[in-house]
This record gives sequence, structure tokens and C-alpha cells, in this order.
Amino acid sequence: DQEAKTEFPIPANVFAEKVVSVQHYTDRLFKFRITRPASFRFRSGEFVMIGLPNAEKPVFRAYSVASPSWDEELEFFSIKVPNGPLTEHLQKIQPGDTVLMRKKPTGTLVNDALIPGKRLYMFSTGTGVAPFASLIRDPETYEKFEEVILTQTCREVNELTYAKELVEEVINDPLVGELAAGKLRLHTAATREPYPCQERITTLIENGKLFEDLGVPRLDPAVDRGMICGSMEMINDTKAILEKHGLEEGSNASPSTFVVERAFVG
Ligand code: A2P
Repeated sequence: DQEAKTEFPIPANVFAEKVVSVQHYTDRLFKFRITRPASFRFRSGEFVMIGLPNAEKPVFRAYSVASPSWDEELEFFSIKVPNGPLTEHLQKIQPGDTVLMRKKPTGTLVNDALIPGKRLYMFSTGTGVAPFASLIRDPETYEKFEEVILTQTCREVNELTYAKELVEEVINDPLVGELAAGKLRLHTAATREPYPCQERITTLIENGKLFEDLGVPRLDPAVDRGMICGSMEMINDTKAILEKHGLEEGSNASPSTFVVERAFVG
């Protein structure tokens, strides 16, 4: 493979890291882990720009860091976009390969952007679960909230595997397991296959089924906090519903009762 053998200089302001492991879940989804540069600091929930050293001017796409800030490696959960400028190559990476990462993390799905509350809802679709994979492994999340409810909606049942395995892992983790036990809950739905819960999260909030399933009261801005990560349409629709329930969008500069970030595709 001629292209793979060509070596391009590493651009300025990027880390060149090694792939540690790759796991494919479906023909549309995979996870990969890379080495973490010693100087790289981020807040759980933030994203970075990821690329490959396969061109003079590499293509970069935004990826939420899925691992928590204490982890020695960095984890990412990715979609495989047919003919996607980055993901058509990224989906072929193997342990030992090089991945580029721009040095500066950023993002609004961070604990600091929410004012204190009792119950934190993390609403995700597809790879939008990635920033929450970071936050549910961060002890700070459990110091700040009494209940942490992660929801993921996917088209197909198999696409929920990453989140299911992750939550299982968190509960059994020697570091955060004790903190998460009794606090962390996962609610999953698959919209295009037979599944116990087969509706969009927006429908589940509006018809109250989400709260019935969980055995908790409906959304209350006095105690409930939200984080949203999914497609643009999912974000806008979910945001409108939270606002209808009296929650307000916050940011790093102005923390409030919910925050949003789009799940990036490329
Ligand atoms: P649906 O199957 O009804 O479209 P996608 O891959 O298109 O981002 O979708 C991922 C999941 O998010 C699917 O289960 C999809 O449901 C759901 N979804 C798509 N758009 C919205 C929306 N505007 N609000 C809530 N859920 C959505």
C-alpha cells in the first residue's frame, strides 16, 4: 500500500500518539484507545481534534474523549462514515499505528457548566454517548450529583453494546465503582429493531415513559440537570423539551441547568 508507506511530517501543535487497541462493535461503530501525552490535560466531557498522518495537510474531526481525565490512555468512540474523509481511513487503524491529536481540548459538556443539582440526566444518541463515557468514570460527577442517569438511543440494538459494557465496567471498577453503585443508571432504547423500549428519547420524555421506567418524578428545574449529545436535530428537539420543562441552557462562562454539544460526524 503506497499511501501507507509515505511518511509526512507531523504538523505543529499536534501530538502524534500510538494506537493501543481497537474494538469494532458494528459495521458503523468502533472504539479505539491511544497513548496519552504526559502533558495533555482535559476536563471529563471535553473534545479534541483527531486526524491521521496520511497527508501533508491531514483532515481533522472533533472527537469527544470517552476516557476519564485520570486514565493513562485516551479512548474514543467513532462512527464509520462511508467515504468519510477521516473515518474511512480511521476505521482501519491497528495497534501501533499513529494517530494525530491537536493539543487543545474544549467543550461544554463538563460538570463546571452545570449548577449543582440532585439528578443528572445524560441524553445521548449514537456516538453522542462518548463524552458521557468520560463523565461516568469521573469521581467528580458522583460528588456533584446523587443520581446519574445515562440514556442512549440508537437505531439498532447492537449499537447499544458499548454503553452497556461500559456501565457494567464502571460499576465493577475498583476506583469509581463504589461511588457509582446505586447512583449510576443506564436507560437504553433502539428505534428501528424490536427492543423493550423502542421510542426516541424525545417521545419518552414527553409521554413520561422514561420517568416511569426509572421510577423518578418528571423533570423539575429545581433538582434536575441535563446534558445532551447527539445529532443537530436530536439536540434541538431535546433542548426544546427541556426548556418547556423550565430548564435553561448554560455554558462554561455562564453555568445553568442544562448543556449541549453536537455529536460530531466525519
Ligand atoms: P430514528 O430511528 O427514529 O430516526 P441517527 O443515527 O440518525 O443520528 O439516529 C440515532 C438515534 O437517534 C436513532 O434512534 C434515531 O431515531 C434517534 N433520533 C434521530 N433524530 C432524532 C431527534 N430529532 N430526536 C430524538 N431522537 C432522534
